[in-house]
Amino acid sequence: MIRKADFLALHPGVYFLDVTDVPTLNVYLTDGGRLGPLEALISVEKAGEGNMNCTVRIRTSSGSFILKQSRPWLEKYPQISAPFDRALIEARFYHLISATEAVASRMPRLLWADEQAHTLALEDLGPASDFFPLYARQIALSDTILSALVNYLAALHRLAPERGEDRKRFTNHEMRVLNHEHMFALPLREPNGLDLDAHTGTPGLTAVAASLKADAAYGQAVAALGERYLHGEGENLLHGDFFPGSFLRTAAGVRIIDPEFCFCGDAELDLGVLAAHLLLAGEPTDRVESILSLYHAAGGGFSSALVRQYAGVEIMRRLIGVAQIPTLKAGLARKTDLLALSRQLLLAPEQSFSV
Ligand SMILES: Nc1ncnc2c1ncn2[C@@H]1O[C@H](COP(=O)(O)OP(=O)(O)OP(=O)(O)O)[C@@H](O)[C@H]1O
Ligand SMILES: [Mg+2]
Repeated sequence: MIRKADFLALHPGVYFLDVTDVPTLNVYLTDGGRLGPLEALISVEKAGEGNMNCTVRIRTSSGSFILKQSRPWLEKYPQISAPFDRALIEARFYHLISATEAVASRMPRLLWADEQAHTLALEDLGPASDFFPLYARQIALSDTILSALVNYLAALHRLAPERGEDRKRFTNHEMRVLNHEHMFALPLREPNGLDLDAHTGTPGLTAVAASLKADAAYGQAVAALGERYLHGEGENLLHGDFFPGSFLRTAAGVRIIDPEFCFCGDAELDLGVLAAHLLLAGEPTDRVESILSLYHAAGGGFSSALVRQYAGVEIMRRLIGVAQIPTLKAGLARKTDLLALSRQLLLAPEQSFSV
């Protein structure tokens, strides 16, 4: 397995989750008292499509659970370093929200976490499906789901830990640095090593991106928002990666996973990212605006202009950054329109979401 030897050399005696090594997993679970007295390990398999961590489904004689390990790099791109502690911060988030029904009931339950191995075990939500077909309009985001997502956010954002020590536990600065690079910095850097036409399969996108990168006012607005993201100390506990890749469709309704980018910041970030993905998925403007009225009705406060600015950056980075959406089948004309919308959202955020 990629970099297993490196990991074990750097962290002798620390468990390394390897889906092909069932005997060692069995020892890890049994010796650590992580299985019930009569529970036996049956199988382990990849849980789904993830890029950042090693996330597996473990079946035992009593049921199943999800085990997630963060390593000091990205699972899919091991040459890229990443904060080793992110699984522990994710576990901390699950622990904090566990007593708040409106939030916890929409997420898997945290079963246990292991600080040494940087693992967390979660309730298995079952063979859930993700929301990626949304961008190709193969599935719809119903009103029920949209209001569940927004109500979840309103309840979550009220959970901000008090200032001081508790708040520091949710600074998550290293993950913000990583995300800042990919959201606010790299996509507009020239050159940035990305062959956009090839990377996105959209000939002509390099030229369209070049004119956006050359727009000084746009660049300044993105950079200023990036500073706010990176160094701000907002009042709200955020999910931090609130896009359809973090939503699961289960038999019991929509569920939210993967809060590894959580921190205390602007509520507008989660709202803006959600809005951006509705726009990328081709949802009508009034639907996107409805996020704001739903959130307001749920008691949340926000600046619409700031929501629109965060939405503008998220649209841009999904089109001309590294983290593309594979199911977004847009041609050059549509991407050009979306980038124009991004520009408008950053520079004239008092206007609505329409181009
Ligand atoms: N509690 C759960 N129940 C059922 N399936 C899950 C659960 N947690 C994760 N999965 C599955 O595993 C996939 C990866 O999980 P997750 O997004 O937490 O990992 P990740 O490595 O952080 O991914 P990413 O690269 O998207 O950040 C999910 O898309 C989903 O299919
Ligand atoms: Mg993740």
